[in-house]
Amino acid sequence: MGNIQFFNELARRKILSNARMASLDFGVYDRTFADIDRKIEFLPGDVVLDLGGGTGQISGLIAGKAGRVVLADGAGEALRAAREILADLPNLSFVHLNIEQSPLVFANSAFDKIICYSVVHYLKDQSSFAALISEMLRIVKSEGKIFIGDIPLSDKGKRYLDERKKHFFQNLLGNLKYYFRKFLTAFFYRLKGIRDTQVSGVVYSKDGMEEVLSRIGGINYRFLEQDASLPFANSREDLLIIKKQ
Ligand SMILES: C[S@@+](CC[C@H](N)C(=O)[O-])C[C@H]1O[C@@H](n2cnc3c(N)ncnc32)[C@H](O)[C@@H]1O
Repeated sequence: MGNIQFFNELARRKILSNARMASLDFGVYDRTFADIDRKIEFLPGDVVLDLGGGTGQISGLIAGKAGRVVLADGAGEALRAAREILADLPNLSFVHLNIEQSPLVFANSAFDKIICYSVVHYLKDQSSFAALISEMLRIVKSEGKIFIGDIPLSDKGKRYLDERKKHFFQNLLGNLKYYFRKFLTAFFYRLKGIRDTQVSGVVYSKDGMEEVLSRIGGINYRFLEQDASLPFANSREDLLIIKKQ
């Protein structure tokens, strides 16, 4: 099954958040939004693009603070669900697109801020990642912010696990939590009739990403740790890119 098909199936069956759902943490989106907002500070006049915004939990929260928000996603069913859930937000609009197809449908310098949260690991390969960044740089304003959030980093994940293995009880608890989440996710999928197929994607390391970023001119960037209470904070990081004037 392709990635988009998978996200369509989740939305069709009213599963609005796959992995985060398994953390059984009902405040997770509020804390995710607060973590993003702390790092890039949405302003009332901002025009924001939420690329790969899915069923819109984060877009809706951004729309409560920013001027105008465009939620763009490749999964038509997810967009349909988002339209329904967020129907009362007049400053939110929806665009169906494939983020791997350049050029994106937006004009040059159209946005003050672009969010792309928990998405880039579903791209085909690293060259798609580089192409996406160059498109984002075209459509963001000068000094605008691009926030690529929740990127799984293989080196960070490995470091965390190596460290955890040194502490028997911490490791045991971590493993129990991991398998419980895995079981719960599989259980929900089965309950909803979703084939439990692994979606495909790119595996990133921080070094690999730095190499890609170092080849792109006209930007400042930094990696940022996530709020430690977010479900994947031990193995993921956020990347903030600022377009130079
Ligand atoms: C894990 S969800 C994240 C949704 C949302 N950003 C969030 O954090 O709640 C990944 C989203 O990326 C979208 N996506 C993945 N590949 C895409 C592509 N090539 N073009 C457009 N959207 C894509 C999926 O449809 C899905 O909605």
